[in-house]
Amino acid sequence: MKTIDYILKTTLVYLSPSYARGVAEKYWTLHDEKYRELRAKQFEDGTIYDIYRKILKIMNPNKDVSILDAGCGSGELVYYFYNDGYNIRGFDVSPKAVKMANKLIGKELCYVDDFLSLKDRTKSYDIVYIYNSLFYIHPKHLKIVFKNFYDILNDGGKLYIFDVPDFRKRRKWYGTHKWYKRLVLNSVTTLFPVYHPYSAAFWIKDNHIIKNAYECGFRDIIKFDSWSYYRSHYVLHK
Ligand SMILES: C[S@@+](CC[C@H](N)C(=O)[O-])C[C@H]1O[C@@H](n2cnc3c(N)ncnc32)[C@H](O)[C@@H]1O
Repeated sequence: MKTIDYILKTTLVYLSPSYARGVAEKYWTLHDEKYRELRAKQFEDGTIYDIYRKILKIMNPNKDVSILDAGCGSGELVYYFYNDGYNIRGFDVSPKAVKMANKLIGKELCYVDDFLSLKDRTKSYDIVYIYNSLFYIHPKHLKIVFKNFYDILNDGGKLYIFDVPDFRKRRKWYGTHKWYKRLVLNSVTTLFPVYHPYSAAFWIKDNHIIKNAYECGFRDIIKFDSWSYYRSHYVLHK
């Protein structure tokens, strides 16, 4: 029954972007408490600090560049950047997350906005990064998102996309399941590349990034392995 539910949701989420959006929105309302607990634990045990250090090493920004954390969640990464003296802001679609972020940072550096509309265009940035968030966008809508970020990047700016579940590496992920589950999930996911139907998240294919990013004007699109075995990073140069 659970598998049938999974298959049904996977199919619906992939076929209908508006259904997927509804699931994503509901998920963040329903699981807010759970996510908050997880992030608090990871903040305390240093997991998020390690990620911050890895992101910092890859981006290697000067202290005078402007940085935007897109999909900042409860703001832990913004907190570390700010405390190390970087010029950073962040936004998230969840007002609750933004409230928590600003409380943690002790300053109103985060605001509510959406990848798909990007209403706040009052500032432009040298670096925009998205960590662990882009895959909540239906692949059909990625071009809108890239165009939005292209518009708010300064000339020569970069969009870093960290940790997207990589469709090419999906077998490594399903390899951790029992063989019969792997068989079903592999087949369903190959047809409908949904990473997580209960939060409406998608496996990202190279073409989703590369084709859409080129069409929006980005050049020199670089892909490299993430620290996570089934994910990848991309850097898009304006
Ligand atoms: C897995 S969390 C990661 C949050 C944060 N980057 C972190 O590392 O803790 C994914 C975040 O993406 C946000 N998100 C999902 N869809 C979004 C959208 N369309 N616009 C902006 N943020 C979005 C969610 O609200 C959530 O906070």
